[in-house]
Amino acid sequence: MIPVAARVSALRPTAVNSILAEVRTTPGPLVSLMRGEPDLPTPAHIVEAANKALAAGRTMYPDNRGEPRLREAIAEKLWRDNGLRYDPATEILVTTGGTFGIYATLAAMLNEGDAVLVADPIYDAYLSPIRLTGATPVPVRSSIVESRFALPVASLEEAWTPACKALLLNTPWNPTGTVFTRAELAEIAAFCERRNVTLISDEIYEAIVYDGHSHVSPAALLRERTVVVNALSKTYAMTGWRVGYVAAPAEFVRAMLLVLQQSSRGPSTFVQDAAAVALTGPQDCVGEMQAEYTRRRKLVSTSLERVMMPEGGFFAMLDLRDLRIPSDLIRKRLLTEFGVVVIHGAAYGPGGEGTLRVSFASGGEVLERGLAKLRHGMAAL
Ligand SMILES: Cc1ncc(COP(=O)(O)O)c(C=O)c1O
Repeated sequence: MIPVAARVSALRPTAVNSILAEVRTTPGPLVSLMRGEPDLPTPAHIVEAANKALAAGRTMYPDNRGEPRLREAIAEKLWRDNGLRYDPATEILVTTGGTFGIYATLAAMLNEGDAVLVADPIYDAYLSPIRLTGATPVPVRSSIVESRFALPVASLEEAWTPACKALLLNTPWNPTGTVFTRAELAEIAAFCERRNVTLISDEIYEAIVYDGHSHVSPAALLRERTVVVNALSKTYAMTGWRVGYVAAPAEFVRAMLLVLQQSSRGPSTFVQDAAAVALTGPQDCVGEMQAEYTRRRKLVSTSLERVMMPEGGFFAMLDLRDLRIPSDLIRKRLLTEFGVVVIHGAAYGPGGEGTLRVSFASGGEVLERGLAKLRHGMAAL
């Protein structure tokens, strides 16, 4: 027997992985409206840049901080899109997707016994990396006001203890679809100042926003206390390229660099070249993808009842709280009796109970068939 470390026993497969295992043993045909993976191809000019870089022999080790050209492109993007100034030489680190950005941040920040505030419900893959550091995630109760999830400062205060070193925030917020307003972020920033809490800001869905909602990076309000985590995965349909970045004050970037140097050492060099082209090249592709998600979101809202209209991201929550049936039970019945795969809100924490997350990251025929099955299942339930 090969021994497994005790700290690994605190780790859990993500909700998506657990449900995928269930799906494999469920007789089909099934339609999945589950995953957060764009079905759109990576724009051609980005693929071409990678091909060119490969052909030019860009296959050696990358700079551990990230290739200078990509760090400059990230600094340019942060200024252009977010009004943030970061020094590419010292304040930016290129990571293997958003996932490694989150991991490097937590690993560089947390000690055994620390705690991290996370909204409830939240993207469940935050919890295991927090536990891996020996820290504890502390759920912050959300509230639903007029069909929108919010994170009241009163809930932050209620959850806070002196062990809370950080707040891990996601805007636009997976799974709820909320885009925090500047006013909400100002209150959250004031809380962080008051309680000496660092803000880890996962902004991976920033480019996908609707109905005039706009993404505000909390770093615009709280730069010295914020670690910005972002990736090209969703914005440019580049999930499989595994490229992301963090931006933070230089001293903390140095700590994260040490974590990165002893583990991933960053994305492939030719991938970094293509990522620089994605960030600094024509941005029409981003607008086109956003228009496509806008059409899909409309289709979801006209096809289903009880939709909590997302302000950002590509997930819609269905509000089934009045049925008083556990969301996991509803999900299982939709899977086994109606052949449609969605995720129960409770998979993201008790605060998601009574809701279902429906993804429109896939469109076309998949979305149409999935919505038809879902409509049929919901009516029957
Ligand atoms: C909120 C959130 N953060 C991070 C990630 C992971 O990003 P990446 O694929 O760039 O590692 C996801 C993926 O679904 C996500 O939903």
